[in-house]
Amino acid sequence: MTALPTTFRVKSFGCQMNVYDGERMAELLESQGLTATSGDEADLVVLNTCHIREKAAERAYSDVGRLRRDDGTRPIIALAGCVAQAEGAEAAKRSKMIDLVVGPQAYHRLPEMVAAVARGERPVDTDMPAIAKFAALPPRRRSGPSAFLTVQEGCDKFCTYCVVPYTRGAEISRPFADLLAEARALAEGGAREITLLGQNVNAWSGESQDGGAGGLDMLIRAIARIDGIERIRYTTSHPADLTDALIAAHREIDKLMPYLHLPVQSGSDAILKAMNRSHSAASYLKLIERVRVARPDIAISGDFIVGFPGETEKDFCDTLAIVDAVGYASAYSFKYSPRPGTPAASMEGAVEAQVMDERLQRLQDRLRAHSLAFNQATIGKDLAILIDRKGRLPGQMIGKSPWLQSVFVETGAAIGDLVDVSITHALPNSLGGALRRPAVAA
Ligand code: 5AD
Ligand code: SF4
Repeated sequence: MTALPTTFRVKSFGCQMNVYDGERMAELLESQGLTATSGDEADLVVLNTCHIREKAAERAYSDVGRLRRDDGTRPIIALAGCVAQAEGAEAAKRSKMIDLVVGPQAYHRLPEMVAAVARGERPVDTDMPAIAKFAALPPRRRSGPSAFLTVQEGCDKFCTYCVVPYTRGAEISRPFADLLAEARALAEGGAREITLLGQNVNAWSGESQDGGAGGLDMLIRAIARIDGIERIRYTTSHPADLTDALIAAHREIDKLMPYLHLPVQSGSDAILKAMNRSHSAASYLKLIERVRVARPDIAISGDFIVGFPGETEKDFCDTLAIVDAVGYASAYSFKYSPRPGTPAASMEGAVEAQVMDERLQRLQDRLRAHSLAFNQATIGKDLAILIDRKGRLPGQMIGKSPWLQSVFVETGAAIGDLVDVSITHALPNSLGGALRRPAVAA
């Protein structure tokens, strides 16, 4: 028997959806009377894990080990997130310190599972019921200026390297009315920006109140009408689901920020085919062109994998070429990591570690040059910045530009204010500027 916990800490790793899930788990535990704490003393620690690459997955276990305190005691440990989903009961076998295992579709059951631990059990729940969890979670309350809202979960695309279709299940869209209610609650709780989340967010579909069916553009239009919400973003998109209507939304909806995260993964058609991506380099570029016609100033961001099985130097040069053709404002790039159970894990033609390292370096150098160029092009412009945190220097605040650049500025403005900043300098990952007016009307 263990005492029921009174304090807790949720540690989230990986993607923004895990950040969202972590917030919802915290709200759920608070609604049960537990208090959040950031220190070592938490009675319950929830590790909200990521399984996308081997390093991230291994980190979950080393983090579990580190939770033992100097005096030999330890908190109740809940393994949540995608490692929990992928490994289930195996995870509890692998580490004796794990008290409960809860998958991303089952975390609404966390309080009862913790109660079971207190009774001496070691519960595991990796069920994937169709989105039952959202109905069982408490309503949203407070919010920072920038909030996440999961609108869609799961993925049916089955890229051959990726575990997501297995850990997050099939594509499911949350109902329109529930999402509007949650967006309103976030606005009332202080949110000024909402980022709509989904593994394939632009695959969202639903029915509006009047029964009309629509896609993500319909949802964005409805959220844009909520008082207090000034900015809307969405991530992550798959090229196959980027509809004409969504592209048009970028032209028509002022509150939809000029930013699109559209992973390409590789610039080589042979590799794209082996990855089971449904686009070619040329069809991807055509899509980008159409987006830019609708919204000429849009910032494009992407994801890349280097060293996929069979990738030759020529394939890799095609990736560098597409980077130059698009001129990405920002990007994430990774070395290919074989994931158990995925088709690519048994493909021939493994790329040597050293070659992979060298390609990643070259790719990142190229991406950094494009980010810097994109950022430098904003010098001299006046941008509306949504302040979201304090900087390290006295009086310094940090906020986001419409293009999602971090902007450092000296201002007395508060977190949540939209201020007008004249950009004076640029680095690859941030901008600096001076306040023009104390605040612009939203
Ligand atoms: N190895 C390396 N990177 C991967 N990603 C997904 N699976 C893998 C893998 N097995 C990358 C893709 C994806 C991003 C979220 O993570 O680029 O878009
Ligand atoms: Fe993974 Fe591909 Fe689905 Fe993205 S689209 S989550 S990379 S399978």
